[in-house]
Amino acid sequence: MTRPPKDREEQRPADEPPADRMPMTIPRVAEMKKAGDPIVMVTAYDFPSAQVAEESGVDMVLVGDTAAMVVLGHDATTPVGMDEMLILTSAVRRGLKAPLLIGDMPFGSYEKSNEEAIENARRFVKEAGVDAVKLERGGPSVDRARAIIRSGIPVIGHVGLTPQTATALGGFKAQGRTAEAAAKLAEETLALQSVGCFTVVFEAIPAKVTEALMPRLEVPVIGIGAGPATDGQVLVFHDLLGIYEGHQPRFVRRYAEVRREMVDGVRSYTEDVRAGRFPDEEHSYSISPEELEAFRRYLDEEALVGTDTPWDW
Ligand code: KIV
Repeated sequence: MTRPPKDREEQRPADEPPADRMPMTIPRVAEMKKAGDPIVMVTAYDFPSAQVAEESGVDMVLVGDTAAMVVLGHDATTPVGMDEMLILTSAVRRGLKAPLLIGDMPFGSYEKSNEEAIENARRFVKEAGVDAVKLERGGPSVDRARAIIRSGIPVIGHVGLTPQTATALGGFKAQGRTAEAAAKLAEETLALQSVGCFTVVFEAIPAKVTEALMPRLEVPVIGIGAGPATDGQVLVFHDLLGIYEGHQPRFVRRYAEVRREMVDGVRSYTEDVRAGRFPDEEHSYSISPEELEAFRRYLDEEALVGTDTPWDW
C-alpha cells in the first residue's frame, strides 16, 4: 500500500519555523525571558528584508534608524526623519506576519515634549502598523517612555551606546567600562523598567557588566555587543548579511557575503549586455510569422523611417 504524501508541516526540518507560526506578542516576550528561550531580533528596512526576516523565523523585527546609514548612505543615524522612517516601516509591515514589529523613533522625534513623543509614536502605529516603538537613552527619555506607554503604545528602551547621541558619548564606543558608568547604566535600565518598558536594548556594554546586572532585572534585555548573558540578541540586517561596507563594530558577526554576490551578479549582467549575450531568445517575446509578415508589409507601405509620426495609443 502506498502511503499518502506527508503534508508540508510534517516534512519540515526541526530547525525550520512552522509556516503558520503564531504571531509574536508582547506578553510572549516576557514568557520567553522566564522560560530562558533566547529572543531573536533583526533589523529590516523594506519589503524584501521583512520577508527574509519572516521566513527566517525571528521573533522581533526593528526598523532601526540605522536605516540612515545602511540604506540612505548617511554617516550617522541622526539625519533620518519621521517621514522617511514611516515609508520604510510601512514597507516592512507589508512583508511581515508573525514577528513583532518595532519602529525606531528617530532623533528629533521625541526629545522636545511628551506630547510630541506620543504624537510621533502614534504615527508609527497608525501610518505604519507597528506593534511598539523604541527610543534611546535613560534620563529625559524615561519620562517620554512613560508618556508613550500611558498613551497605550508599548515601548522598548535602549541604553549603553546610543548612536543618536554618540557625539556626546565621545564617539561610537563601548559604554559602562568604569564602575561609575556601569552604575549609571544600571540606574537607567531600572528606570526604564519601572515605567513599563517591555524590553530594553543593551548596546556595546562589557559582557561582564551585563552578566552582573542581568539577575537584578525583570525586564527582558536584548543585546547588541553586550555579551551572551542577555535574554536575546539583535543585529543589523545589512551587517549580518555582509551588505554594508562601512565601519563594522566589533560585535558584528557576518553570516553571509551578500554584497559580493550582488556585485558579481550585476557585473555578469553588464558583461553579457556589452557582449550581446543578453537578452537571448529565452528572455524575449515572440510573434506569429503571419503577424510579423503583416507588420513588415505595413512598414514597407508606410515607409516609416525616422519620421515624426505621432503615437496613437
Ligand atoms: O537602529 C538600530 O538598528 C538599532 C539597533 C542597532 C538596536 O537601534
